[in-house]
Amino acid sequence: MGEADSQQVVLELAELRNLIESHDHAYYVLDDPVVPDAEYDRLMRRLQDLEDAHPQFITADSPTQRVGVAPTGELADVRHGAPMLSLSNALSESELLDFDRRVRERLESGGLEIGEIEYVAEPKLDGAAVNLRYEQGRLVLAATRGDGQTGEDITHNARTIPAVPLRLRGEQWPEALEVRGEVFMPRAGFDEYNRRALETGGKTLVNPRNAAAGSLRQLDPKLTAQRPLDVFFYGVGEIQGGPPIVTHGDTLEWLRELGFKTCPQWQVVTGIGECLNYHERTGEKRNELPYEIDGVVYKVNSLQDQAILGTVSRAPRWAIAHKFPAQEELTVVRTVEFQVGRTGALTPLARLEPVFVGGVTVSNATLHNMDELARKDVRVGDTVIVRRAGDVIPEVVKVLHERRPEETRPVSLPESCPECGSEVVRPEGEAIARCVGGLVCTAQLREGIRHFASRLAMDIEGLGIQRVEQLIEAGMVKSPADLFDLRAEQLTELERMGPKSADNLISAIDRSKTTTFGRFLYALGIRGVGEATAAMLAAHFGSVDELVDADDERLQEVDDVGPVVAAQIRAFFREQHNRRIVERLLACGIDWPQPRDSAAGRKPLTGKTYVLTGKFEGMTRQQAKERLVESGAKVTGSVSKATDAVIAGERPGSKVTRAEKIGVPVLDEVSLRNLLRGSGES
Ligand code: IVH
Repeated sequence: MGEADSQQVVLELAELRNLIESHDHAYYVLDDPVVPDAEYDRLMRRLQDLEDAHPQFITADSPTQRVGVAPTGELADVRHGAPMLSLSNALSESELLDFDRRVRERLESGGLEIGEIEYVAEPKLDGAAVNLRYEQGRLVLAATRGDGQTGEDITHNARTIPAVPLRLRGEQWPEALEVRGEVFMPRAGFDEYNRRALETGGKTLVNPRNAAAGSLRQLDPKLTAQRPLDVFFYGVGEIQGGPPIVTHGDTLEWLRELGFKTCPQWQVVTGIGECLNYHERTGEKRNELPYEIDGVVYKVNSLQDQAILGTVSRAPRWAIAHKFPAQEELTVVRTVEFQVGRTGALTPLARLEPVFVGGVTVSNATLHNMDELARKDVRVGDTVIVRRAGDVIPEVVKVLHERRPEETRPVSLPESCPECGSEVVRPEGEAIARCVGGLVCTAQLREGIRHFASRLAMDIEGLGIQRVEQLIEAGMVKSPADLFDLRAEQLTELERMGPKSADNLISAIDRSKTTTFGRFLYALGIRGVGEATAAMLAAHFGSVDELVDADDERLQEVDDVGPVVAAQIRAFFREQHNRRIVERLLACGIDWPQPRDSAAGRKPLTGKTYVLTGKFEGMTRQQAKERLVESGAKVTGSVSKATDAVIAGERPGSKVTRAEKIGVPVLDEVSLRNLLRGSGES
């Protein structure tokens, strides 16, 4: 190849690398992609081809070189240019007030009153700290925190994280720069990773924090590259050169200009009142953030003041972590019991030594099902990690095997139902064991009626679990149909039920009679028929008679219904007892208005485009998508100006941020239901 040709190749390589880098930056750091994936893939392929043809021009910072070779032996120790400090903790408001008072006293020396302190407040990310070293704008070293002075060389792994720049952006690079940040695994990536691991029989990750730390310390960067890691940068270590900077807030902005991803939640706050306010607001959002945090950090904003305050025993006097209540704690398992649900499913439940976790005292935690119980091998007497995050049911995450007492036995499935003594069966290959007692089993009756009355089913106000238990115990209710025979005089015989409450309950039961076919079907509690499937069945069949007579083939015409659910629907209606209950329910006046126009195939959402994000309560995202499509809408994966709305469930992703940025409306699950019912505005 001639010199001119070589030059041409080198130029094209440089151009491709710059282009890909800026697309990576837009995608991973700014969360605002500028080109479609197909275009990006084309550029990457072209770069790869050129490098394959001219390997002599491959550079270490080329985007193709993120996954390199594994170090031999073990991770090497490396000394940080400047020590990596840790943070003192404030666990209560008064500890925080003490911190602020100490800061003011130290800065006031000389008798000068200084008033309220300006802090930067940031989330305290729950992952693993890293130190990245750049020389002449290139990433040369990445290390774990270690003991603060010396960490381990994890350069090969840090390079695989797409949000870690291999080269700095912008200008005015310092000669040498250490950037500090927290590597974490976003919740969605963690859940998805574990789902896949369970499916393929691989090892699951315990929690996102351990997952991040463990991923960084792998020897083989190919393994790390498969872990969905992300990073936020929050500070600097050693700097040689660089622009003059006077506040911590400016540092964060400068880091962003250099191409580093910073946490968008940071904010300048003045005085301790605003700090507390920030802590409270962040605490409320904690479980909706796409990543885990365990508190907030306040840092004195002025770098000059930081220097005056200095550090004491490896922690700066100018910063403090204000923690949230821990979401994981250690406790001991007293017994393992089995709870019987509406469909007879037995759920193993650990009864625990009460422990304060996630802001409440927890004494029970779910073990989900027999497979989970076997996988975690939880035994009576074990010390376990329990986790309670937000409103989710507390769960046993892991057993500390080294603390297991002697002579324990694995927990086995009871042969008979703990509630009614009927046989318990667990079909081959299924994780779920069931009591065969049906409505003979008080537990199934209780849960069945509770489900029947629940919000998304018949929506009978005031009929909670305690009332249901009372009614069953008093022998007044033996099936859902009995609810409609209740009289107010009868109800006043029950404890804590005055004439007014009795009247209210009777009116609520009466009101529930006007419903929709979908709700009614859902309320029946047919296995496999969730709220979304019930709505589709209702739309498809239009009447109970049509549905009862439908064979497998007709049932499977409904999108959501496969052979298993079809068999369950048929089995339900074959049962005489169920048929009688349905007849009685209809005879007592349960009714629904016929949907307008459904026969004419009206599709109310024709022409609309939606994007779905987050987790919905009553249906999966897939079901939501299918139902929107059924109503004529288009559902796409990315938000653009052409999107009519983003519909966000719990823990939505970055799509909401993007929607807000470009002015696309964001709807919640209630609005989604309205849309699907055809009464929505959007
Ligand atoms: S600043 C100057 N900011 O918490 C003090 N740390 O105990 C250096 N962390 O090792 C830390 N989020 O892993 C700082 N916004 C944040 C942080 C944060 C998480 C971690 C970090 C550090 C530990 C301090």
